[in-house]
Amino acid sequence: MPHAAEPLTVRRLPEAQGKSSHLGAEARLPTGMQHIDLFALSEDDKQALREGLFENGVVVIRNQQGLDPNVMPQIGKFFDSTAWDIHSGGVKMVTDAKNILSVNRGARIPRAQQVSVIGKGRFRDHEGIEELDLKHVSHTEFHETPLSAEEISQGFTRPYRWHMDAPLYERLPGFVTTLHAIQVPKQPDQKIKFSNGEIVDIPAGATAFYSGARAYELLSDDEKEFAQNTKVRYAPRAYEWMLDCKATDDALTIAKVGKEKRLDALPEWSWDKVHMFPMVWKNAQTGNPHLQVLGACVYELHTTDPATGQVTIMNDLQKVRDTVHKLLKRVYAPENIYFHRWQEGDLVIFHNRGVLHSITGELSASSKDDDSEKRLLWQCTMASGTAPVPYRHE
Ligand SMILES: [Fe+2]
Repeated sequence: MPHAAEPLTVRRLPEAQGKSSHLGAEARLPTGMQHIDLFALSEDDKQALREGLFENGVVVIRNQQGLDPNVMPQIGKFFDSTAWDIHSGGVKMVTDAKNILSVNRGARIPRAQQVSVIGKGRFRDHEGIEELDLKHVSHTEFHETPLSAEEISQGFTRPYRWHMDAPLYERLPGFVTTLHAIQVPKQPDQKIKFSNGEIVDIPAGATAFYSGARAYELLSDDEKEFAQNTKVRYAPRAYEWMLDCKATDDALTIAKVGKEKRLDALPEWSWDKVHMFPMVWKNAQTGNPHLQVLGACVYELHTTDPATGQVTIMNDLQKVRDTVHKLLKRVYAPENIYFHRWQEGDLVIFHNRGVLHSITGELSASSKDDDSEKRLLWQCTMASGTAPVPYRHE
């Protein structure tokens, strides 16, 4: 007897259970559907997927080998009807060598221009792209006090930089980012040492996530009040501005002031295009507060006194970074981080307006055709037509 048709279900991943990360679930497609097909999902299926994503932050659909890349922008539009039909990084992201987003030498898929190819190693004739030589960024290039060669040889790594996929200039950040793993490294696990001394094994090349909701939960009542009343102004052309800066060991912000580019040395910009976002964003589905701050790119904090409406501007950059770091650093603990263990065929959808993520892993051997570090992913994050909505506790 054939099995009864099962609808789309979303369940917390076993490795995410018992942790306080609030992140990580698997969506199982309805019976008979091999690749996710939004046009064939029932209204109930779509609702389950929507709720599953906004509640779990990171949702994986397994075994999507052979997926049409054009499905990825469709998913972006499903979660955000105001999404523009372009990658939030714009066209220049992969062509301008000075743009930090292009340092991994990514490319766009010819038949799906909203989808980037990222990873590590040399690939030929992938999706009509003749030659790809992808670079996996290492924390050693970006941290003020990176791990020693000895620690790296023992298998230690760090997150590179915690961020949302947000240009912070002109184009608004997408609601979701999708990542599809074509090839994943065949390497032993690596490990991260946290500031409390705890050592955690993580998959080589794992993507790390923390929930902005968890980060908010960890604030004191006074900090919650401050965060709700504060807007973050990001630096003009923030990624170019901080290109020579070095990060704190936890990758949450920049360690020292002094290496920022002068504002008049940046590519053409104007203040009206520079983003200023609330510190605390309201989850579009659950209404919950998420502390969403891209610490490496902060420039000023604008805090409104709710009683008088008076705005205080903090523009001492070291103080701005210290303030943000104090709010963010509690979330950087093993129980709050979800490390995605990539399997080939995975399609990961994450809530870009509710989680922060980072590359991890030291994959730096020279590129060879049989390189066991090889990693190939598709990535799609589309500019939104909607600004982030501030959370305000009534
Ligand atoms: Fe990203």
